[in-house]
Amino acid sequence: MAANESPVTAPGPGWGRKIPRDERVFLGLIAASLVLMTAVVFGWLAWGDQNVPSTYRYMSPKQFSAEVATFVDRRQAADGRVYVPPGEEAYLAASRYTFYPELVLQANTTYRIWLSAMDVLHGFSLVGGGQNINLELAPNHVTGMNLTVGDPGRYLVVCNEYCGLQHHTMKTFLTVVPAAELERNAVAAGTGEETTPAVGQAGSLEISADPTGALKFDTASLQAEAGTVTIAMKNPSPLPHNVAIKGNGVDVKGKVVLEGGTSTVSADLEPGTYTFYCSVPGHEAAGMKGTLTVS
Ligand code: CUA
Repeated sequence: MAANESPVTAPGPGWGRKIPRDERVFLGLIAASLVLMTAVVFGWLAWGDQNVPSTYRYMSPKQFSAEVATFVDRRQAADGRVYVPPGEEAYLAASRYTFYPELVLQANTTYRIWLSAMDVLHGFSLVGGGQNINLELAPNHVTGMNLTVGDPGRYLVVCNEYCGLQHHTMKTFLTVVPAAELERNAVAAGTGEETTPAVGQAGSLEISADPTGALKFDTASLQAEAGTVTIAMKNPSPLPHNVAIKGNGVDVKGKVVLEGGTSTVSADLEPGTYTFYCSVPGHEAAGMKGTLTVS
């Protein structure tokens, strides 16, 4: 404040029109930083390799589920994993609390991997193997990521978006193998084993997964006679599910299936009490289980 100004009397006319030098410098710096920060926003997308090269499309979880199922049916090997030959597009579906299917990729190859969420918001975080990739996966929003994998190894992918009580268990591995190993294990398209659901046979029980995507079956208790017991579970939801039986030394799991598929499990059971459940990570803990009483 200059010596002739008073805090209690009004300043002279026109005081607001003259901008002091220090304020002009300050406004200049603000304007320059605004221009710079705006340039960085676009530059971040245009230059450098900090962004995963990717593309987007829109598709309902139901449609995406159908594409994933086609991909898995075509390429799933006997060990349950999908060996993806170079040049083929891969799929990875995130749902509470799993990534499906487990992918095996060829070293030093660029893949297009389509990712989406089937139920709620999930994250895809791959740190390791020279990568640091973090994507947000939302239902209806499909991301096509161009991923160049390097040396052979087993790389952990975790969900980094809180998605529910079992969020901390949600993970998968991207397994990278040499070309020879991939060729040896890759299933020729269309020769994957057929699932023939044993529906309607004697001793066969039929259940269904909850069609709305809730983590439960349509029943929590089943009865059977001792002997060969088969449970066939229809999956009308876009989430991957299976049916499994455990208890009294028995531990058998049916194949994981997507919408429209049927998972079947069979076991020779003595009288007793068993648990039937979905072995997809987190599903049993969330309540996808029931009691099987054998008499
Ligand atoms: Cu999915 Cu956290």
